[in-house]
Amino acid sequence: MSPAPLPTPAVVPRPESLTVRPGHFALTPETGVRAPAEAADAAGLARELLGVSGSGDQLRLRLVDEPALGAEGYRLKVTEDGVEAHAAAPAGLRWAVQTLRQLAAGEGRLPCVEVLDRPRFGWRGSLLDVARWCHPLPFLYRYVDLLALHKLNTLHLHLTDDQGWRFEVRKYPLLTEVGGFRAGSSLGHADQGRTDDVPHGGFYTQEELRDLVRYAGRRGVRVMPEIDAPGHMQAAVASYPWLGNRPDRRLPVRRAWGVSRHVLNVSDAAVDFVCDVLDELTDVFPFEYVHIGGDEVPTDEWEASADARRRIAAEGLGGAGELVGWWASRLAGHLAARGRRAAVWDELLERGVPAGAAVFAWQGLPRVDAGLRAGHDVVAAPYEHLYLDWAEGEGPEEPLAILSSLPLERVYAYRPPETVLGVQGHLWSEYLPTPELVEWRAFPRLAAVAEVGWSGAERDHPDFRRRLSAHLPLLDRLGVHYRPPDPPTA
Ligand code: ACM
Repeated sequence: MSPAPLPTPAVVPRPESLTVRPGHFALTPETGVRAPAEAADAAGLARELLGVSGSGDQLRLRLVDEPALGAEGYRLKVTEDGVEAHAAAPAGLRWAVQTLRQLAAGEGRLPCVEVLDRPRFGWRGSLLDVARWCHPLPFLYRYVDLLALHKLNTLHLHLTDDQGWRFEVRKYPLLTEVGGFRAGSSLGHADQGRTDDVPHGGFYTQEELRDLVRYAGRRGVRVMPEIDAPGHMQAAVASYPWLGNRPDRRLPVRRAWGVSRHVLNVSDAAVDFVCDVLDELTDVFPFEYVHIGGDEVPTDEWEASADARRRIAAEGLGGAGELVGWWASRLAGHLAARGRRAAVWDELLERGVPAGAAVFAWQGLPRVDAGLRAGHDVVAAPYEHLYLDWAEGEGPEEPLAILSSLPLERVYAYRPPETVLGVQGHLWSEYLPTPELVEWRAFPRLAAVAEVGWSGAERDHPDFRRRLSAHLPLLDRLGVHYRPPDPPTA
């Protein structure tokens, strides 16, 4: 009896070209993988994700001299005899394996296809906020897996904020002993001004994060850590009050969502403190970029501070706002001396982007253009398209969210300028206390982000929906707690 016909292959993000041929290749316990030593990660992934551990060589991964494939592109040919995947670099072979995983669709057989594929943008990421809620370490591994499944290559870990400090710093243990824990959280929407008394806290050790980085690297996912300074720092000021603008005052780790007015002071000692933190951070995270924040810095405390006024005068700055740029340039200079590049939020466009820093444009579409016009490298995360912490719909059944709404179609519709480094979908976690809620907000909209970052600029909503509905059963098999998409809007 011939097997049931295979469903039309549906790969997300959409490959540059995919041609279906008649027939299929059955994956069996005898199927084996052959790959050069440089592609050992991709071979290991193939064995793990496709369940092929035989001694044969039916699945052949090859590195070829084909510069047009770029750093992440690949070709794939599935015939009834086996699978050939070609790439110019190991990263391309990893993505080829993820495509095979989607093509296999849990059926144990691959449709015969020819695929040519390469990404539109080199930076395709997701921010995960582990400061507001310390998401369990196993979830970070799972999140990396889900990014890789969608060929998203960057995890931006927001490790510190007013409400919690999650990165172990050996030189300053109170950052996690004190700053890692708070006595309560906002109850309901932060606008209502209520908090509960339920303690929350936790942190990740350097060893735990090193292991996560290694695991992510084997899957082609780079991890960019963020230490947000000089605002969003109340947890640090609670740990070491001399970092603040009123050293005689004791502050708790902030309970309520929203932005604390209590920012770092502008002393050399405070800058040195953050530089020490960055030294331990770069020891754990090898990625070229380190995000140093710079968003939403209230300047009230500096305006009331004689020390800040002296700093403004000594540095010839135009006012307290420019102290944010001064802070960023000190930190970025420290990173540059260690061969790293800084990433900053787009507030720095008015306050002084440090030389060589990448700008993360979040405050709407015009900020993406403003960053590009000013000649910076820009990662686009405009909130009206890519803030996945916003509710997806307006219905009463939606879990509480900071804002609404951002439907799937609007994520997919985003067409970034050709000259950005790439895109990120952001999962701020004030209203996402559990992994289940993160997944509910992230998926399937993160699949649309992946498509925006990977696939060409043309948009075909019905085709995206068709492929997505074939992709969701794979998310089901992986137990992803995704939000079933609403019917497409006309
Ligand atoms: C941000 O959303 N405050 C970067």
